[in-house]
Amino acid sequence: MSVAPIDFLLSRRSVKFVQEPAPSSEELARILQSAMSAPDHGRLQPWRFKLIRGAAVGRLADTVFTLMEEAGSPIPPHKAEITRRWLSKVPLMLAVACKLDHANTKIPEEERMLATGAAVTNILNAVHMLGYAAYWSTGLGTYVDQVTDALGFDSLDYRFMGYIAIGTPIESGQAPERPDYHQFVSEWTGA
Ligand SMILES: Cc1cc2nc3c(=O)[nH]c(=O)nc-3n(C[C@H](O)[C@H](O)[C@H](O)COP(=O)(O)O)c2cc1C
Repeated sequence: MSVAPIDFLLSRRSVKFVQEPAPSSEELARILQSAMSAPDHGRLQPWRFKLIRGAAVGRLADTVFTLMEEAGSPIPPHKAEITRRWLSKVPLMLAVACKLDHANTKIPEEERMLATGAAVTNILNAVHMLGYAAYWSTGLGTYVDQVTDALGFDSLDYRFMGYIAIGTPIESGQAPERPDYHQFVSEWTGA
C-alpha cells in the first residue's frame, strides 16, 4: 500500500539512536538536494553542511571533548562516555552551519538562519521518506566557537547550528502523540 506524501510529514519523528545502514550515496544525494528547495529570501543559499561519516564520527567526539576542555567547559567523564557510546553506532552526521554574510544588510540575519532551519527540516523529512531516521542536536559543542572553527566553518562568518545524526533506527517505534493544531491557530478577520 502506498503512503500519501502528506502522511510522511504527519508521521515524521526524531530518532537519536541510529545505526548502519546509512542512506546510500544516491539516497544521500537526494536528501541533500531536498535542502536546496527550502524557502530562501534573496536566494542567499546560506546553508552549509559537512558530512561526517564512519571513523570521522568517532574523531568528532575526540575533537569536541578536547576543544570543550580547552574552552573551559569540560564534559564530565560519564557524559562523555554516554555520548561516545551513542556516536559509536551513528553512521552519518551532518554538521549544519549558516553563512552570515555580514555585508548583506538587506536581508536580516535571522532570515538566513530561518532558511537554514527550513533546509534542515527538508532533510529530516527526506530522510524519513526514504525509510531512515534522523535527529537534530545542538549538543557536542555547538555553541563553542573553537568547535565551529574545527569543523571548517570560520566562526566569524558562520553560525553553527548543530548536527543531524542519520541512519536506521536501532529500535522500532512510532511518532509520539502530537498536539491538536487548534490550540496553536486562531483566526484574524480584521473586523
Ligand atoms: C534546533 C534544534 C536543536 C535541538 N537540539 C537538541 C539537543 O541538543 N538535544 C535534544 O535532546 N534534543 C534536541 N532537539 C530536539 C530533537 O531534535 C527532537 O526534535 C525532539 O526530540 C522531539 O522529537 P520529534 O522531532 O520527533 O518531535 C533539537 C531540536 C531543534 C529544532
